[in-house]
Amino acid sequence: MFTKETVIGVIGSGAMGAGIAQVASAAGHPVVLYDTNEEALRKSKVNLEIALGKLVEKQKITGEQAAGMEARITYVGDLARFGNCGLVIEAIVENLDVKQSVFKQLETIVAPGCVLATNTSSLSIASIAAVCKESTRVVGIHFFNPAPVMPLVEIIPGILTAESIADSCFSLISSWGKVCVRAKDTPGFIVNRVARSYYGESIRISEEGIADFATIDWALKEFGGFKMGPFELMDFIGNDVNFKVTESVWEQFFYEPRFKPSLTQKRLYEARLFGRKSGRGYYVYGTTPEIPQPSKDPVLGKKVFQRVIAMLINEAIDSVYLKLASKEDIDLAMTKGVNYPNGLLKWGDELGLSEILETLTELYETYGEDRYRPCLLLKQMVKQKQNFYR
Ligand code: NAI
Repeated sequence: MFTKETVIGVIGSGAMGAGIAQVASAAGHPVVLYDTNEEALRKSKVNLEIALGKLVEKQKITGEQAAGMEARITYVGDLARFGNCGLVIEAIVENLDVKQSVFKQLETIVAPGCVLATNTSSLSIASIAAVCKESTRVVGIHFFNPAPVMPLVEIIPGILTAESIADSCFSLISSWGKVCVRAKDTPGFIVNRVARSYYGESIRISEEGIADFATIDWALKEFGGFKMGPFELMDFIGNDVNFKVTESVWEQFFYEPRFKPSLTQKRLYEARLFGRKSGRGYYVYGTTPEIPQPSKDPVLGKKVFQRVIAMLINEAIDSVYLKLASKEDIDLAMTKGVNYPNGLLKWGDELGLSEILETLTELYETYGEDRYRPCLLLKQMVKQKQNFYR
């Protein structure tokens, strides 16, 4: 269905769109990049030149390859230039009304059969496809930030999407050197859903006064091997972005208690303490970050890790149980999309599913809160002495 000659249209030349255009161009496709904002287009062109210049300097690509990549991207301020595209990837503002209106307009321009993809993080593919005449060609292609660096891409067929379209996109994006996983059209897809407990449970532990931010960050790095602790990571992502994703996943899951946002994060968001970008979040960022000394008590550290990892593994198991994706794809998504040191289901096998169940049961009985209820599949697997991979 797609070849190297397939013209790739990208809508929105912000952080994601510009990165996606770079990836498509690096794979040899002619790319048309559109934005309503001229300044955004100009900036993305300059940023690409700088990024490619650095790659040439580091001898990752040749000057000729860089020139080829730049030449293959055409920057346009008019959607009418998308007439010969074979695939269009939309990466504009995360607003359903705006996205729906762009998709409607797009269908009056592109040829029948041109695949229409959205890079949305939190809207459903079904709600975007619903306004299209040829809704079978609308699919989710969810890149991670920065798109040229992060290997993972989630491919999401909506309820109206033709399976063959999702398959073709999977093959195409894989051929671009990305690791593709397939996910059901559910809130947060794989990564943004499963990762919620990393933040949520850590905040909860700090709210209860069990450990401070620095100690929790230390515990997850020391005992879990995570590259960044949850509070450092939230400050890095931005507490505005992270809070909005949490709120959206919670609301879209009909207020499922496991995804409930915390007041701690909401207050940071309201106070505009977004993290690194605003100079203060959970930590203060001057010329160097001011990170207080963690307590480094191994008993406490292991307890913190045990609680957070049990919640993460429970979420991954629930995703298998509800057929969100295959177990392999769930593990790949977390290692390639957010750099987890291990796939959560594989980790569950290694730590012992019965231990995970024990931790969750204890939390559930202690707190009496629904957020700690162990997934039915976990209970069944422990009962039958099963593992995910061995
Ligand atoms: P951004 O704010 O950096 O860029 C959006 C661009 O779209 C802007 O340049 C804006 O001028 C342009 N735009 C807005 N309305 C438009 C319209 N009607 N037609 C054409 N261009 C229009 O946003 P970002 O971060 O690149 O996000 C884009 C999409 O990607 C969103 O759906 C977001 O949820 C998703 N996403 C974002 C990630 C991130 O970490 N930033 C990660 C994965 C997905």
